[in-house]
Amino acid sequence: MTTTAIDIKEEILQLKKERNAVILAHNYQVGEIQDIADYVGDSLGLAYKAKETDCDVIAFCGVHFMAETAKILNPNKTVVLPDREAGCSLEESCPAEDLAAFLDANKEKNYYVIAYINCSGGVKALCDVIVTSGNAIDIVNKAPQDRPILFVPDANLGAWVMEQTGRKMDLWQGSCYVHVEFTQSSINKIKEEYPEALVVAHPECTTAVRLLADEVCSTEKMIGYCQNAPVKDIIVVTESGMLHRLQKEAPDKNLIPGPTDKCACNDCHFMKMNTLEKLRDCLRDLSPTVEMPEDVRQRAEAPINRMLEQSRK
Ligand code: 13P
Ligand code: SF4
Repeated sequence: MTTTAIDIKEEILQLKKERNAVILAHNYQVGEIQDIADYVGDSLGLAYKAKETDCDVIAFCGVHFMAETAKILNPNKTVVLPDREAGCSLEESCPAEDLAAFLDANKEKNYYVIAYINCSGGVKALCDVIVTSGNAIDIVNKAPQDRPILFVPDANLGAWVMEQTGRKMDLWQGSCYVHVEFTQSSINKIKEEYPEALVVAHPECTTAVRLLADEVCSTEKMIGYCQNAPVKDIIVVTESGMLHRLQKEAPDKNLIPGPTDKCACNDCHFMKMNTLEKLRDCLRDLSPTVEMPEDVRQRAEAPINRMLEQSRK
């Protein structure tokens, strides 16, 4: 590590103390951010950690909807994120106004609306319950039987949940721009190179790719899957940041990033907007913060709490 990186790390640790802050990081963050964080995990684990913390400041290293979820659960805390522009293509695919207009035009259906956590606070405020990739199956299994389900915004994750639960749902046609880049041919090619390998894929992948996987699960569940896999070679079909934590926690495995047709691995440019420098700056300046109108926050809090009550940690 360069002297500058060591200095910045020290500054971050000092500021963290001064601010009484906790650093939460998603599994796709760059390694140096993961290594300095108090907790690294998937969207579900991060939501639980955000709800539990007694720190005054949450420095959220992930994308905006994750930091916003932390703020919804902690209206009296300061939530900062290293880069305000770290968005998500799934969030963009479902603007709250479009969902409100759709629900208005389909009032007679009386939809039970389930939102994947990768959406804005405005969308969460229009929903009955939130899910993550880690608990979607459990929560859809608990949905009322006497109402049709609308699942937003990820059509690929929704299709996987339908397969797993046998529950029919109407699907919003959003997608993750990173996970749809993995193709049947790119995964078949790498499987030919590593014929003994098992394949683990994120449920945001397309059905064609998912069908090539031995396991489909959230980023957090990938850790246990790789640690316990009975083979050495594992092809990991998700964003490249995942490999950092996997290499640390399953060091005896040969972890191979899932390739696309264009690259040997695939980055989410939103996740990669965060850097150690920007983390230091947001702790120093207490900016940018996550803010939202209180009425939206209150309406978004109920479906998130419903999720946390209905799912297992
Ligand atoms: P996880 O909750 O499984 O970490 O997924 C979050 C995400 O954004 C995947 O692209
Ligand atoms: Fe959003 Fe996809 Fe990036 Fe996850 S990987 S944050 S779903 S754009």
